[in-house]
Amino acid sequence: MAKQEDKFKSVISHAKEYGYVFQSSEIYDGLSAVYDYAQNGVELKKNIREYWWKAMVQMNENIVGLDSAIFMHPTTWKASGHVDAFSDPLIDNKDSKKRYRADVLIEDYVGKLDTKIEKEVKKAAKRFGDSFDKTQFLETNPRVLGYKEKGNAILKRMGQSLEKEDLADVKALIEELGIACPLSGSKNWTDVKQFNLMFGTKLGASAESAMDLYLRPETAQGIFVNFLNVQKTGRMKIPFGIAQTGKAFRNEIVARQFIFRMREFEQMEMQFFIKPGTQQEWYKHWKDARLKWHLSLGMGEDNYRFHDHEKLAHYADAAADIEFRFPFGFKELEGIHSRTDFDLKAHEEHSGKKLQFFDHEENKSYVPYVLETSIGLDRMFLAVFSNSLQEEELENGTARTVLKLPSVLAPTKAAILPLVKKDGLPEVARKIVEDLKWDFAVSYDEKDAVGRRYRRQDANGTPFCITVDHDTLEDNSVTIRHRDTMEQKRVPISELKSIIEEEVSMKNWLLRM
Ligand code: GAP
Repeated sequence: MAKQEDKFKSVISHAKEYGYVFQSSEIYDGLSAVYDYAQNGVELKKNIREYWWKAMVQMNENIVGLDSAIFMHPTTWKASGHVDAFSDPLIDNKDSKKRYRADVLIEDYVGKLDTKIEKEVKKAAKRFGDSFDKTQFLETNPRVLGYKEKGNAILKRMGQSLEKEDLADVKALIEELGIACPLSGSKNWTDVKQFNLMFGTKLGASAESAMDLYLRPETAQGIFVNFLNVQKTGRMKIPFGIAQTGKAFRNEIVARQFIFRMREFEQMEMQFFIKPGTQQEWYKHWKDARLKWHLSLGMGEDNYRFHDHEKLAHYADAAADIEFRFPFGFKELEGIHSRTDFDLKAHEEHSGKKLQFFDHEENKSYVPYVLETSIGLDRMFLAVFSNSLQEEELENGTARTVLKLPSVLAPTKAAILPLVKKDGLPEVARKIVEDLKWDFAVSYDEKDAVGRRYRRQDANGTPFCITVDHDTLEDNSVTIRHRDTMEQKRVPISELKSIIEEEVSMKNWLLRM
């Protein structure tokens, strides 16, 4: 556990030191669970967004984009159920006066059981060596099965109690499991209460005429209310999807996990409109498709798993999370939800407008069902960043910190380094920067010895370093060094563009899907 905490701390400090993520309003001591993306972070975030957009919109003829406003008519949120049901079950510790999400306290408890399972696996792998069969061990080891059974039973009971709004049982579960306040160790809990997560604001100049608004807690509703406009103007036929990325706002209570859970964050969502009755087939399709997208980034198959929901949101008839192994354990990264016709029907009722599709094959109109994929951009950023940050022991006994970002996402693709700041080398290096910058984000770095510059670029996540030396002046060749292998090769300047392109092109990465 301490190791996990250390890793998480180093992720946060590296993100700050290398210009990825800053605490918002830091000079005023910051604002809790609100963050700013700095010069490198903004590029990484943009690249993740683009990687998602290309896979989702550009590569699918029947999915189009949208950019709807953050402010929406307040009835939207009544219709969507957010006014009545978008709340978290909260519990206070009477001694520490700290407030927690009751479900998160219970999930963290189950997370500890998962950690115990991982420890058993590690121990057994050491004991059995090459003959160790992890799948078989997970399916047969009595201790592992015991932990799994216990975890599943706890989550099932919690899901059922939340579903029934039986908050007294959620409190009883916390007490039965002996869960203590992480801060004080006290088990002196209040009752569990529901708390709405939407931020309110006002539109209008005078107090009398002002209209109460909410900052959107998800981007999805902007898609639903535009369903008919897009379907008609785009002449879209079912099945088709509408995708958008944008800010969402939630007054989160558990706000101590860096950019994992923020109060202002960005979502990348896609609503896929389908014929009623086909939702199971499309649910499976999108679960597979989204996992493939994640795996294409090469961050390790073992780092992902599905978690099928016991407790379904008010709009869903099936839901699963793609969970990722964050530094603090497996947690939700993306949701795939079968939302039925809940949202469109609710908007029909509240707006009095028909939100239907005329199916020529069936010769009838119907309210489409919806399959949703929803991923937090910031959470994806954290997954990529934390998984990439590595401390490596080198053969010569030294160590290096390297940010092994998937090169397609790296903020800077290549750093151009003149070996020395004289003899015409900076001029040649600058010329290479000028040529490459039309196609890639590149940087120029001449400060410090070249070894230090390599380390700095490694820690920054730059996939290539290109060094200009005195031989370059003679033969127009440079040394290109690869971040991950540290391998160095001599290549003609004229080949740089194709070498970098081969490694970082979105096409090559997306083809792995
Ligand atoms: N439209 C469906 C929806 O919003 P959700 O499970 O509440 O579903 C979807 O959110 C995704 O948005 C999550 O899987 C997560 O990646 C991201 N997300 C949700 N709340 C977040 C928060 N407070 N901070 C950062 N990301 C968040």
